[in-house]
Amino acid sequence: MSTSRRDFLKTLAAGTSISALSALAPIDAFFREKLKEKFADKGLPSRKDYSLNKNVKYLNHGSIGTIPKMVQQTHHDYLALCETNPWFYMWSGEWNEPVAKIRKKTADYLNAEAAEVSFPHNTTEIYNLLALGLPLQKGDQVLFCNLNHAGASIPFHIHSKKRAYSVKVFNIPTDDLSSATKEDILTLYDEHINERTKLIVMPHIDNTFGLQHPVKEITALARSRGVEFISIDTAQTMGMIPIDVKNLDIDVIGTSAHKWIQAPKGISVAYFSKRVQDQIDPMWVTWGQEQWKDSARKFEDYGTRNLPEVLTLGKALEFQNRIDEPTRIEKLKSLRTHAIKLTHENPNTVWRSPIDWELSGSLFVIELKNHTPSEFAKKAFADHGFVFRPFDNYSTIRISPNVLNTHEELDELFELI
Ligand SMILES: Cc1ncc(COP(=O)(O)O)c(C=O)c1O
Repeated sequence: MSTSRRDFLKTLAAGTSISALSALAPIDAFFREKLKEKFADKGLPSRKDYSLNKNVKYLNHGSIGTIPKMVQQTHHDYLALCETNPWFYMWSGEWNEPVAKIRKKTADYLNAEAAEVSFPHNTTEIYNLLALGLPLQKGDQVLFCNLNHAGASIPFHIHSKKRAYSVKVFNIPTDDLSSATKEDILTLYDEHINERTKLIVMPHIDNTFGLQHPVKEITALARSRGVEFISIDTAQTMGMIPIDVKNLDIDVIGTSAHKWIQAPKGISVAYFSKRVQDQIDPMWVTWGQEQWKDSARKFEDYGTRNLPEVLTLGKALEFQNRIDEPTRIEKLKSLRTHAIKLTHENPNTVWRSPIDWELSGSLFVIELKNHTPSEFAKKAFADHGFVFRPFDNYSTIRISPNVLNTHEELDELFELI
């Protein structure tokens, strides 16, 4: 055990009264030491960096990610520290400075400003906030496609009824996505945007077919047609592929940090451009309202909240930031290319996601010709420990590998099919 960690545990045990910042120092030092060790050779994280059950072959990072052991350890340490003096750590403001640093770090990750970042609980929360809080009037229309996730769609369907704006859902055909082009997707948006379209919500990469929207092109088109608000749902992309909110010209993103950023469940990230912040009514208001009026901070929890998880989100981002980006992408691409090859070689499977990497990511679906997906998933888990997502309505299974997965796991899965 490192000295810094031993010091930290001793401090906890002794119940020494210390400032929050000095109490955090040994936790940070322990984490830094572990990071340095892990990334000394610039290699990618592997399975041994995670605590997955040894019998589990985890190909479902698109549903819920798994947290690196060193991030988990830090999470435990923050929780333990918090419990040594809950009032002090929760309410005294002692953790304000570390949280401000994490906000800045998150903003840098997205090419945003710190005052444009908030820490909600998940993606669904952000779309509830938009459905309730945007200035959408009678006659205004919210536009999204059939691939928009329920969490980014249902809030608009439900709240539009009370608020009298309308929702238009258009269809992106999914029968032959493997040959789809950017122009095909752009043409569909072009056809469905009209003078009433006030907000467009699009999945950056959707969760059912793994289509990566050509966001920049759609945004340029939408702006030229007078659309005021544009949001991308980055639940499946933040931590998988880079996101530059300024370059994409986006107003709001909502994400699920428990997937690809590998942060604890129940803490997440959102971005609200300076331009739109004042136009959105916060979902809850209380004492901080005035203080945070010029910042996206006003869109997150007040008072007693999940601060140990916010601090851990910072560590999860540090971990992800240490992974060399081209190496990450190369690994994810190679898993995908391998899966495409296996699909073409296997007479029982059909590739149903876009082929082009620019239009996709590390989440893809394969049609099964010889199994009912949910029955196959049950059996593949019970007998072989495979975890992936079945979609019986499309006769597909969804595979979403992360850098810790291997070609051999894919070989074994296709062998089973
Ligand atoms: C694209 C997409 N959007 C939104 C969600 C909902 O995320 P959360 O449960 O974090 O709100 C998911 C979850 O799988 C998703 O894949």
